[in-house]
Amino acid sequence: MNEFYQNDIISIKDYNKEQIEKIFVATDKIMQLNPSDRREICKGKTLGYLFYEPSTRTRLSFDAAMASIGGNSLGIADVLSSSAQKGESLADTVRIMSIYSDILILRHTLDGSSRFAAEISDKPVINAGSGTEEHPTQAIQDLFTIKKEKKKIDGLKIGIIGDLKYGRTVYSLLYGLGNYDVDVRLISPESLRIRHDSIYEIKKRLDFTESTNLEEHIDDLDVLYVTRIQKERFPDEEEYLKVKGSYVVGLDLLKQMKDDSIILHPLPRIDEISPDVDKTKNAKYFEQAEYGKHTRAALLSMILNENGF
Ligand code: CP
Repeated sequence: MNEFYQNDIISIKDYNKEQIEKIFVATDKIMQLNPSDRREICKGKTLGYLFYEPSTRTRLSFDAAMASIGGNSLGIADVLSSSAQKGESLADTVRIMSIYSDILILRHTLDGSSRFAAEISDKPVINAGSGTEEHPTQAIQDLFTIKKEKKKIDGLKIGIIGDLKYGRTVYSLLYGLGNYDVDVRLISPESLRIRHDSIYEIKKRLDFTESTNLEEHIDDLDVLYVTRIQKERFPDEEEYLKVKGSYVVGLDLLKQMKDDSIILHPLPRIDEISPDVDKTKNAKYFEQAEYGKHTRAALLSMILNENGF
């Protein structure tokens, strides 16, 4: 039996290198199939989505992924239009969604929300972002993008810059990179360093350095992973204003980078990458968003088909 069958995806920590590479192989297979064969994979299956926080890419890429493999989607894109507004609990909402769907995608403001939902739901649950904790399918997409664009992950020098305190994609990416032999440089304003409560867990998995100065590392990096400063998670707007615009990756900075380095971003971007950079060969964040559809199609296909596809 396919080991992903009917399993939840709550944390990237639950997956080892061999399993992550299996997802990459399945993604390549999905990308190579002709559209009519692809549409047979999840024919008649329904994806249910439940978003307690805004999303463009994650929700739409799951929706597009499910359509590409022949399934359909239904759900709550904006919880303000659901009975949660009348006071319905997350537990009851999940129970109802799991009646109408074969698999459930949840984004929620609270850490631990997806694990809680998985205990309630009798259908598999995929964490589409839980508080500041994790966004595991983003990490799969990020690792797949690195592998595709750099032809390897082992041996790379990877800079991760921006909001390392609140950015959940950073935590999932670091846990995922822990399966590889990489040199990681964490670059952030002092107040947005990686959270103390997570450092021990990350250190168990990989070596990294911390700095506030991008210039120290810029000419040495193979991958620069840029993140948005997460304004909505600051308890005090004054604190946000102190770090707003701390780093901007523009053409001047790009000149200092290796010719074959790549720039990634989970998006949305605010002002941390200048639009001038978009047209350069180093900018791979839109490709990264496209790979997100294919990696998610592969995951859905493996979770919903007992014997793979
Ligand atoms: N990268 C990401 O999670 O984007 P959305 O918030 O638009 O889903």
